[in-house]
Amino acid sequence: MEDKEKPVIEVKNLVKSFAGRRILNGVDLQIYKGEVMVIMGGSGCGKSTLLRHIIGILRPDEGQVLIEGQDINAVPQRELDKIRRRIGMLFQSGGLIDYMNIRNNIALPLREHTNLDESVIDIIVNLKLSMVSMRGMGSLLPCEISGGMNKRAALARAIALDPVFVFYDEPTAGLDPVVAGVIDQLILDFSKKLAVTSVVVTHDMQSVFRIASRIAMLHKGEIVTVGTREEIKNSKDELVQQFINGKPEGPISFLQKGDNYLKELTEK
Ligand SMILES: Nc1ncnc2c1ncn2[C@@H]1O[C@H](COP(=O)(O)OP(=O)(O)OP(=O)(O)O)[C@@H](O)[C@H]1O
Ligand SMILES: [Mg+2]
Repeated sequence: MEDKEKPVIEVKNLVKSFAGRRILNGVDLQIYKGEVMVIMGGSGCGKSTLLRHIIGILRPDEGQVLIEGQDINAVPQRELDKIRRRIGMLFQSGGLIDYMNIRNNIALPLREHTNLDESVIDIIVNLKLSMVSMRGMGSLLPCEISGGMNKRAALARAIALDPVFVFYDEPTAGLDPVVAGVIDQLILDFSKKLAVTSVVVTHDMQSVFRIASRIAMLHKGEIVTVGTREEIKNSKDELVQQFINGKPEGPISFLQKGDNYLKELTEK
C-alpha cells in the first residue's frame, strides 16, 4: 500500500435494487494503490453486482463510485471511456468469444481501443500469451483448450491494454487446486510486476489467504468487515468465522422456510 491517505477506488454508500429487491444496501469500500483487495461473501450476496458497479457497467440507485477521485457516473462518456480503458476485467464466466481463436480474443480490445498496426498488435498478443504461459496456442479456439487455459487466456485478454486496475470475478472457480494456484500466482505477478491494483471476488478460501492484501466481507448488502489476512483469520466476528471455516450453521443461513424437513425427519 503506497499511499494510505488517498484510495484509488472508493465506493460510497452504494445502493442497488433489482425488481424491488435490495441487493446492495449502502456499500462502503476503499481500495488503495497496488493492493490486492479480496471481496468474499455468500453466493448471491451481490459480489458480481458490486464489481459491475465499480467498472461502470451498472449504475447505482444511490451512492458513488470514485476512481482516482472521479465519480464514474457523473463524468462525460468520453471520460468514462478513458477510465474504462485503464481497467481490465476477468468475468465470472471467462467471457472469451467462442468462435474467435485465442489470438483474436486477446487482440480484440487492442483493435477496439487503439489504432495500433496489426504487426504491433501481433507482438503485444505474443507477449501477453507468454505472460500466461500460452505461447504458441493463439490459433486454438476456446473450446479446444481446458478450463484452466481458458481462464489464463481470459487473463491475457484482461491485461491486453496494460490496465492499472484489474478486476477478477471468481478467477479460480471450478479449477483444480494446482491450476488455481497458477492463477493466483499470475494475479500476484500482475500485481507486483505490472504494478496493478487488483480487486478479486472469490470464495475460494485457499486463494483468499494466498493473494489478499486485505479482505472485505459482503453480507446482506453491506461490507461487514475489512481487514488484513491476519485480522480476518483472528476475527471474533461469528459471521467471518463461519464463512472462512465453511460451517453450515451460524449467522449466514441458506435455509428457507420448510427446509428443515429432512432435519425434522431424521430427528423424529
Ligand atoms: N441484472 C439483474 N437483474 C435482476 N436481478 C439480478 C441482476 N443481477 C443480479 N441480480 C440478482 O442479484 C443478486 C446478487 O447477484 P450477484 O450475481 O451479484 O451475486 P454473487 O454474490 O456474485 O453470487 P455468486 O457467488 O453466486 O456469483 C442475485 O439474487 C441475482 O439474482
Ligand atoms: Mg458472482
